[in-house]
Amino acid sequence: MSEVQKNIIGRRTVYRFIEKKIQKSSLDNAFEAARFAPSHKNTNPWRFYVMGEKTRNTLVPIVEELSRKKCIDNGLEISDDVVERARNKILKIPVLVAVTSQLSPDDSFRQEEDYAASVCAIHNFVLSLWAEGIGSQWSTGSITRHKIIYDALAISPEKERVIGLLKVGYPEKIPEPKKKDLSEIRFYLD
Ligand SMILES: Cc1cc2nc3c(=O)[nH]c(=O)nc-3n(C[C@H](O)[C@H](O)[C@H](O)COP(=O)(O)O)c2cc1C
Repeated sequence: MSEVQKNIIGRRTVYRFIEKKIQKSSLDNAFEAARFAPSHKNTNPWRFYVMGEKTRNTLVPIVEELSRKKCIDNGLEISDDVVERARNKILKIPVLVAVTSQLSPDDSFRQEEDYAASVCAIHNFVLSLWAEGIGSQWSTGSITRHKIIYDALAISPEKERVIGLLKVGYPEKIPEPKKKDLSEIRFYLD
């Protein structure tokens, strides 16, 4: 098996990270990989925003509020633990990257293709990190759809859409894969 194939197949979403610092050179390698993703008409619609401490802190009150609301919606008791876990998912992750894709309100096909291209860029980024032993989790939690994140990134929701938060760090634990059998997804037709 080629090293590339091993890297693709071996990659897993990582949910828990150790405290080890991520070198900027590793991140920049991954952004370089993202930069070379394909996009129809070379729109290069992706943007990556690495969120520092000050930017992350602006999200905390809303993240706490959303975690309390989630408890209420699910009929669960609100506890300090739940709120703290939600806060830590923003503040304690070694590297937190918001990814956006540019919008084309007058051209839904372009917008769909640009979203697809941005997803390719994300996966290039993720695979490049994985090749250096660094894990990540793509998250589309409710904070990614809240106005506060657009304010935090100083971007316009009319021009670009936050398509995910990437949580990046050295893995504490690598989960087992849950994948379909090839026979369920691949069909050779006559
Ligand atoms: C578009 C997209 C959104 C995702 N959003 C979340 C999320 O909000 N929370 C989460 O825990 N995982 C999220 N994931 C990670 C998936 O749960 C994960 O990819 C899936 O369990 C398969 O595992 P693997 O990545 O290790 O193959 C997302 C993945 C994708 C592609």
